[in-house]
Amino acid sequence: MENINWTELSFGYMKTDYNIRCYYRNGKWGEPEISDSEMIPLHMAATCLHYGQEAFEGLKAFKGKDGKVRIFRMRENALRLQASCRGILMSELPVEVFEKAVVEAVKRNQRFVPPYESGASLYIRPLLIGTGAQVGVKPASEYLFVVFVTPVGPYFKEGFKPTPYAIIRGYDRAAPLGTGTFKVGGNYAASLVPGEIAHSKGYSAVLYLDAREKKYIDECGPANFFGIKNNTYITPESVSILPSITNKSLMVLAEELGMKVERRQVPVEELATFEEAGACGTAAVISPVLRIDDLDENKSYVFSKDGQAGPVSIRLYNKLRAIQYGDEPDKYGWITLVE
Ligand SMILES: Cc1ncc(COP(=O)(O)O)c(C=O)c1O
Repeated sequence: MENINWTELSFGYMKTDYNIRCYYRNGKWGEPEISDSEMIPLHMAATCLHYGQEAFEGLKAFKGKDGKVRIFRMRENALRLQASCRGILMSELPVEVFEKAVVEAVKRNQRFVPPYESGASLYIRPLLIGTGAQVGVKPASEYLFVVFVTPVGPYFKEGFKPTPYAIIRGYDRAAPLGTGTFKVGGNYAASLVPGEIAHSKGYSAVLYLDAREKKYIDECGPANFFGIKNNTYITPESVSILPSITNKSLMVLAEELGMKVERRQVPVEELATFEEAGACGTAAVISPVLRIDDLDENKSYVFSKDGQAGPVSIRLYNKLRAIQYGDEPDKYGWITLVE
C-alpha cells in the first residue's frame, strides 16, 4: 500500500478502495452497492447540476488504542441529511440505509483509518443528488446516494492553535428564510467569494452575522461558533445556521463539566466580553479563535493573548476527543463500533 504519512495529513481528498452507492428509482430506494470507481455517470440534465438538488454530510471514524474503529454520532448525520432532503425536495433516505452504507464504507476501507497515535481520522462524506433529468425547475424523480471516505488531518493547518477570523458584512452565506439550516451545496457556493477574501487577508474563515440585521453572530464558514464567559458556554441560535452535531455534543459535555449552557442570539458587541471563543465542527473539531477582526467597523476582539488555546476550550477538546477515540466510556451512546 502507498506510504501514507499519517501525521502529515491535511484535510483533502485521497483515493481509497471502495465507495457505496444507493439508487432511488421507481419511487423507492434500492440496496447499497459497492463500487471501486471514483466516477459517477450522470445525465447532463440531472437536477443536481442545474437546480442544486445536492446535499451532503460529514462525519468521522476514529481508531482507538484498542485498535477498534468508532464512528461518531452517525444517526445524527442520517437525520440531518433527511432534513436537508426535505429542505430541497429530494427523496429522504431511510436512516437504516444511511447507517448501513456508512458502516460498509468504513469497513471496506479499514486500511485507511489512521492509527490512534497520529491524531488523524477517517472523514466520511455521504452525498445525495438529484440524478433524474429535468429542464423546468422541478425536483428529480431519481436520486443517487454515495458514501466515500478519505483519511484526514486537521481542517486548519494550525490544528488546535488559535487562528484569526474576519467579520465581512458584504456577503451572506444564507438568507434568513433560505437554506442555511440545511447542508446543501448552494450555501457553500455562496461562501466561496467571502471565504477567499478572508483567506487572502490571512484569516482562517469568515464569521458570518445574521443576514437580516447584521447584529448577531451566525456561524464561522465551515463550523458553528461558541464563546465562553463566567463558566458559561454560549452559542448562537439562528434560523440560518447549520445545526452542528459537534456543537450539540459540546453543549452536553460543557454541562457535564459543570458549566452553564446558553443557546441564544449573540450580539456582535458581546464578543468583547468572551474569555475564550472557538469554531466547532466535524472537520474543525474545536478550532480556538485567536482574534476576530471586524473589517467594516475597524474593530478587533482578542481571545488569546499568548497564542494558546484557553483552559475551557482545552478541557472540552480533550473530553470530546477522548470519547471519539474510545479513551473514555461512551455514556451517551454516541459511538458505533465497526466490527
Ligand atoms: C456551515 C457549517 N456549519 C457547521 C458545521 C459543523 O457541523 P458538524 O459539527 O455537524 O460537523 C459544518 C460542517 O459540517 C458546516 O458546514
